[in-house]
Amino acid sequence: MKHIAIFATGGGSNAQRIIEHFENNDAAKVSLVISNKKTAGVLERAAVKNIPTLIINREEFYQTENILQKLDTFQIDFIVLAGFLWLMPTYMVKSYANKVVNIHPALLPRYGGKGMYGMNVHRAVHAAQETESGMTIHYVNEHYDEGGIIFQAKCSLQSTDSPDDIAKKVLQLEHQHYAQVIEDLILET
Ligand code: GRF
Repeated sequence: MKHIAIFATGGGSNAQRIIEHFENNDAAKVSLVISNKKTAGVLERAAVKNIPTLIINREEFYQTENILQKLDTFQIDFIVLAGFLWLMPTYMVKSYANKVVNIHPALLPRYGGKGMYGMNVHRAVHAAQETESGMTIHYVNEHYDEGGIIFQAKCSLQSTDSPDDIAKKVLQLEHQHYAQVIEDLILET
């Protein structure tokens, strides 16, 4: 049984799906939820499921390696970013080589990089009149959205789709695939 830590800043709808996926699953369980925002909805979702939570601050995260000890305490093997906006520091990427994954709400390598998150992505896709979008699950390195691509899923867009409509279609794909892709990766290692 592997132990997963989810890092999230937002509402945590992906985190919720992942927590539920692993509730009755021998491969892994979500053992810790980490956020940099005290008011993040994801913390409430974790509390309801009795999953321990941890709030991190920028200085400690980038200038010390204290978090590694905390991850050790919970025997964390695998890290899942689900709406977490800070770059991973080098010590994290090295300690969890190929064990940190992220989900991005577009078809990387397009519409990625610094500042490309949330509705910014969907607005850019809309402005470019793309006929499809989708989501990308990828390994995480020290650069935004540049780690190796693990899995992508596409959705077609209509010319009448607003950025909000695009966001809904993409989020649906994320909910459909993220947990299963994580399970497959964990079973492979
Ligand atoms: C998702 O769109 C994900 O692609 C991005 O952040 C969003 C998180 O949404 N990285 P939620 O908090 O899981 O609802």
